[in-house]
Amino acid sequence: MVNSKLIPTGVPPYMAQQIPSIQKCRPFLKWAGGKTQLLDAFGRSLPEELSGGKITNYVEPFMGGGAVFFSLNQQHTFRQRTVCDANEELVLTYRVIKRSVEDLIAELRTLESEYHVRTERERESFYYKVRGAFNDSLPDINFRNYGSAWVDRAARIIFLNRTCYNGLFRVNRKGGFNVPFGRYKKPEILNEDNLRNVAEMLHATRIIHGDFTTCGKFVDGKTFVYLDPPYRPLNRTSSFTSYSRGGFCDEDQMRLAEFFKKIDAKGAKIMLSNSDPRNENPNDSYFDELFADYTIRRVPARRIINCNGSRRGNISELIITNYPVKTV
Ligand SMILES: C[S@@+](CC[C@H](N)C(=O)[O-])C[C@H]1O[C@@H](n2cnc3c(N)ncnc32)[C@H](O)[C@@H]1O
Repeated sequence: MVNSKLIPTGVPPYMAQQIPSIQKCRPFLKWAGGKTQLLDAFGRSLPEELSGGKITNYVEPFMGGGAVFFSLNQQHTFRQRTVCDANEELVLTYRVIKRSVEDLIAELRTLESEYHVRTERERESFYYKVRGAFNDSLPDINFRNYGSAWVDRAARIIFLNRTCYNGLFRVNRKGGFNVPFGRYKKPEILNEDNLRNVAEMLHATRIIHGDFTTCGKFVDGKTFVYLDPPYRPLNRTSSFTSYSRGGFCDEDQMRLAEFFKKIDAKGAKIMLSNSDPRNENPNDSYFDELFADYTIRRVPARRIINCNGSRRGNISELIITNYPVKTV
């Protein structure tokens, strides 16, 4: 159902999908592949059923920084929401916000004041001290059972993400966070209002840690599913796959295409976004073949994270849906 408070009078509900929402809550982490810049294009690609009350369930198996989740859920009210990610640190952070947002804010307030009171050189060593302590405590963290150590860890994840180079979340094979210090004048480490609004939104949301296929059981004919897997590398040297220890290879892209078919058969409405391999090679039909039975559109985008700085610039992004999209 469309949240009527966000729609100017006289605008039909269907058009409301194209109106950027008043962003009461937004991603609090900088996340590689974050979709903030594509929200307008996605807004124009949503299924019409979203406005008619026929869809009551939302599932997002690759949650990442949550740009789409936060935006869409401020425009539409779903009776059930399920989000998932394979990155255990990210999922831990969402769970802490959901459960203990005030304790998290208090921890972040301390980190923020300790950071801002220092000179730039002191900030750098403070950053590495926090990063070292964060990595040293990894063996003691039980990612399955919520405990008081989780609040501390979530605060450090947010702090490191906001102060590290490029806002990356990158871990080595052993799971150690290895991004260097970022030189920002006054990074925003804590936005209390935003975190409280995020907590409110997560309150009635099921948060899963695991592979995207885990979400299959929560999908039915009244579900809208948004799939945003890690990008297929534009070229062999640009693979940015280190959100977590596993990576995402072509075999996973094929598993995802199978998953797409499976939930399509259940009657769900599905939207998937991915990088367009034709940016690199105009003859590459990888996704065109994998999703030949569905609607494939190419929309302009800007690649923000790329190992090779010279390749930043305008590219296209794929939006694949199992329903027709009216282009306005
Ligand atoms: C492109 S990002 C999603 C970005 C998100 N839409 C946003 O706007 O921030 C892909 C996400 O998939 C997660 N991921 C990687 N492999 C996965 C898997 N097998 N199952 C579920 N999530 C996975 C990564 O940890 C990452 O957060």
